[in-house]
Amino acid sequence: MHLDAQQPIILQDYLRQRGWLDTEEVITSLEKPGEGNMNYTLRIITPNRAFIVKQSRGYVEKYPTIAAPAERAVTEGRFYQTIQRIPKLARQMPHLLGIDEKNNLLVLEDLGAASDFTHLYQPCRLLSESDALALTEYLSDLHGQFLTHNPDVAFANLGMRALNNEHITNYPFLEDNGFDLNTIQPGLQALAMPYKRDADLKKTVQALSTVYLAEEHPSKPVTLLHGDYYPGSWLQTASGTKIIDPEFCFFGPAEFDLGVMMAHLMMAEQPPTVLNTVLSNYQPTTGFDERLRQQFTGVEIMRRLIGLAQLPLSLSLDRKRSLLDDAYFLLS
Ligand SMILES: Nc1ncnc2c1ncn2[C@@H]1O[C@H](COP(=O)(O)OP(=O)(O)OP(=O)(O)O)[C@@H](O)[C@H]1O
Ligand SMILES: [Mg+2]
Repeated sequence: MHLDAQQPIILQDYLRQRGWLDTEEVITSLEKPGEGNMNYTLRIITPNRAFIVKQSRGYVEKYPTIAAPAERAVTEGRFYQTIQRIPKLARQMPHLLGIDEKNNLLVLEDLGAASDFTHLYQPCRLLSESDALALTEYLSDLHGQFLTHNPDVAFANLGMRALNNEHITNYPFLEDNGFDLNTIQPGLQALAMPYKRDADLKKTVQALSTVYLAEEHPSKPVTLLHGDYYPGSWLQTASGTKIIDPEFCFFGPAEFDLGVMMAHLMMAEQPPTVLNTVLSNYQPTTGFDERLRQQFTGVEIMRRLIGLAQLPLSLSLDRKRSLLDDAYFLLS
């Protein structure tokens, strides 16, 4: 079954066969619930309800020439399944209504018309104290619940980790990757060059890559990570701040999620009060290494500024220079 808004009858039949629609229930309309790059996501509307269907394919939906692990929606579904038994986590995410492993598809509660938090990247947008606390508490709760030395292999998510790793620790630091950063902002290529040529920096980043990809964890427990904890995965809904899209989840170092979150708050130019709210309210897991957290923050800032996965930022070249300086400091 290939999810396609242009084929509502096929979709309706499929949903009825799976029992996700009642036999008499009809699809009255289909809509795109919001912006996404990786997957095909639809809001299904019937006369008395709406829900979300998300399908992953063997490529990136928006860039079909880029291969991506086809089964990522199933992994995402497993994440929802796993956190469902922890009420405080389940409350902050959409309820899982079903998974179809064969078709790499998941069905989720519709959180309604919602906007994500990527507006934070625009000038003068502040994350409220209550949102900062809610987002931090979610991470503390998630990390605190699943600490282990022997992670469930169902969450290895190696293909997604390899894809992410390439764009975090390799591609941005290649001198000749064919991506002209001046097309993003004139002068950005020259700004990036010293980092691409810094052997010590690249060694540190390679060490982070090893930590990110590790499958065995003898020295320190790992935990279930969201894996993509940034403003695009946070939704402002009528029933509060929610978290979606754990398709990059895996068992790994808690420092990664918190590091990524902090990097995005810094790129969104949030004031020290907001950064401190997050850092002082996060409940560190056993063996939490603040230095490793800072390194993940540093590399996330670098990869977002000089790598392929660009953000809708409104920063001057000077602000990017200063953020890259900060990131370099965090990495050294
Ligand atoms: N359960 C939901 N309820 C309401 N809206 C949703 C829900 N799930 C997703 N959306 C909307 O659809 C958008 C895309 O969903 P999602 O981020 O899961 O897709 P994706 O393809 O993985 O995106 P990306 O490429 O950013 O990873 C979200 O930003 C949000 O606006
Ligand atoms: Mg996604």
